[in-house]
Amino acid sequence: MSQLEFKRFRRLRNNPIIRDMMRETHLSVKDFIYPLFVINGEKIKNPIKSMPDVYQMSIDVLVEECKQVRDLGIPAVILFGIPEKKDEIGSDAQSENGIIQRAISAIKQNVPDLLVIGDVCMCEYTSHGHCGIVCGNEVMNDDTLIHLSKIALAQAKAGVDMVAPSDMMDGRVAAIRQTLDTHKFKNLPIMSYSAKYASAFYGPFREAAEGAPKFGDRKSHQMDYANSDEALREVEEDIFEGADIVMVKPAGAYLDIIYRVKNEFGMPTAAYQVSGEYSMIKAAAEKGWLDHDKIMIETLTAIKRAGADMILTYFAKNMATILNKG
Ligand code: PBG
Repeated sequence: MSQLEFKRFRRLRNNPIIRDMMRETHLSVKDFIYPLFVINGEKIKNPIKSMPDVYQMSIDVLVEECKQVRDLGIPAVILFGIPEKKDEIGSDAQSENGIIQRAISAIKQNVPDLLVIGDVCMCEYTSHGHCGIVCGNEVMNDDTLIHLSKIALAQAKAGVDMVAPSDMMDGRVAAIRQTLDTHKFKNLPIMSYSAKYASAFYGPFREAAEGAPKFGDRKSHQMDYANSDEALREVEEDIFEGADIVMVKPAGAYLDIIYRVKNEFGMPTAAYQVSGEYSMIKAAAEKGWLDHDKIMIETLTAIKRAGADMILTYFAKNMATILNKG
């Protein structure tokens, strides 16, 4: 055996201290954006069956939750509204008194040091559950842009810190940017769900946000999960139209997309570890088949390692608690 020549990688894995020193990727509480679901009423905290530890909350409960989130050091939340009444055009989303507008101003009043992001989409607000204006079986692109702009503007007027269009209509970043700019919101950033795939991983979210389409699916506007070059074209276009942060969604099964987007554009890049990714871990852990915390940490580390600068995740509070303990 005297002739063997090889490198001994194990030298740098000998003990926890040296392993720690060699670690390339570190999660921080500051990486996380926490998604929250807000509903009308008072003192309401409805559990979501398919998403353990996630709730629909009325505004009073939401504000208390936001204080906890802030105290944990999590910098931002993203809000999804469930309106009392849904209609064809999702009126509640663009109304001054809409659930999301009231939630935004309540949080900004009571927890001003928490960054509030508004999800801009119509599916939670429309009677048909689609992300835009429907004509026959079609989700109309250009007609929808007008409404998305109104939703973004209503959120801006309520005091939101950032808007995040998740609808995947073409041209929505341009439309929203123009509307915000002409209404004195030039400094309000847009985080665009740029490469958002038509994914079965959104299943549990649709229970949480009550936004499942009543017919058809979202394949005419969300991306085909088989495509990767197309994601770069989507992201490039959103940057051109004025997106300040670009997002890839889902995250765990799309690490290659996160990697390519970050490498190609060097933009602030967000990744959304979506409801299905969360629920799979919860379910397996409940069965005792996987170690909950270890899987949580491993998946989030992988998403960051792939290139995400920020991660939207239902694990944010859980993860922050662990990180704060050191
Ligand atoms: C649309 C929207 C969806 C999600 C975020 N924004 C659902 C969809 O596109 O059908 C999914 C998030 C998740 O699954 O956690 N408003």
